[in-house]
Amino acid sequence: SPHLLSVDSLNRDSVNHLLRVAAQMEPIAQRRQITRVLEGAVLGNLFFEASTRTRVSFHTAFCRLGGSVCDTTGFTFSSMAKGESLYDTSRVMSGYCDAIVMRHPDQGSVAEFAAATNVPVINGGDGPGEHPSQALLDIYTIDKEFQRLGKSFSGAHILMTGDLKYGRTVHSLIKLLSLYDPLRITLVSPPGLEMPTALIDLVTSRGHQVEVRDHLATDFSDLDVVYTTRIQKERFTEEMNENFQGISDDFMVNKAFLDQRCTDSTIIMHPLPRDSRAGANDLNVDLNGDPRLAIFRQTDNGISMRMAIFATLLQVDTLIEKDLRPVRW
Ligand code: CP
Repeated sequence: SPHLLSVDSLNRDSVNHLLRVAAQMEPIAQRRQITRVLEGAVLGNLFFEASTRTRVSFHTAFCRLGGSVCDTTGFTFSSMAKGESLYDTSRVMSGYCDAIVMRHPDQGSVAEFAAATNVPVINGGDGPGEHPSQALLDIYTIDKEFQRLGKSFSGAHILMTGDLKYGRTVHSLIKLLSLYDPLRITLVSPPGLEMPTALIDLVTSRGHQVEVRDHLATDFSDLDVVYTTRIQKERFTEEMNENFQGISDDFMVNKAFLDQRCTDSTIIMHPLPRDSRAGANDLNVDLNGDPRLAIFRQTDNGISMRMAIFATLLQVDTLIEKDLRPVRW
């Protein structure tokens, strides 16, 4: 398939290929070199749900490869506000664009859109479904951080915490991690927000050790990665929202948690946005100056990985090396 709709279409070889191409993209992402391999290509960047990172980094990545971008944000600026179907929108956009990134609040909607076109479509997040490019940039980040720290994936201990039910980033990430050598994965979520059982069963069937716990006040001595997520209240049912009392401090990743439960080489990740409003307990700002906090290294890595995804889907990945030039500004 020319699309990237789910990490299910990836295997260890294709992930490794994307990691290699992303590493090649770093001088471009860091604005030391330029390439024009996608000169003349147009990206349709269709976001029917709020986004900062995914929307802007896909846009930037396409421009840094020499392409141009047109976008729509929200339903108001698309003729879907007038009742146009995903099918018709897809057929129309295919005539205008060479690749499409789409985010939509309904799970499965990006796949429905992609079924109507042969132009590569990338899922930028479909409701609580998947967010494959985020999981790829997360794996790229873990790989880079492990190399820096002299660690490997084999036997690594990864804690995932927060809203594991509606967090699409962790749904994609746990599946990608399951392609690696056996890992220890610990899952901690507030009541009612547990990781779907089908995903736990999949990961266990691939030989990984999965442990489910109901709070963070546990004697973790050997965590390599803490991956925390925001509580996705926008996806709660009406009944859940009425009964929601907030999240207790048992689920807060903060300086005290790091000092008591982590090591000097534990890395702290979050797909962002983190919720900075009072009562939100996903990732405390008291960690902002801590070098173990990898969240902004993740966002930077997102540009290289998204360039790698475009270059691979549009089959210009082998041309990059010869096309590199120094920047002139
Ligand atoms: N991580 C992520 O998807 O962030 P945005 O919602 O800002 O795109």
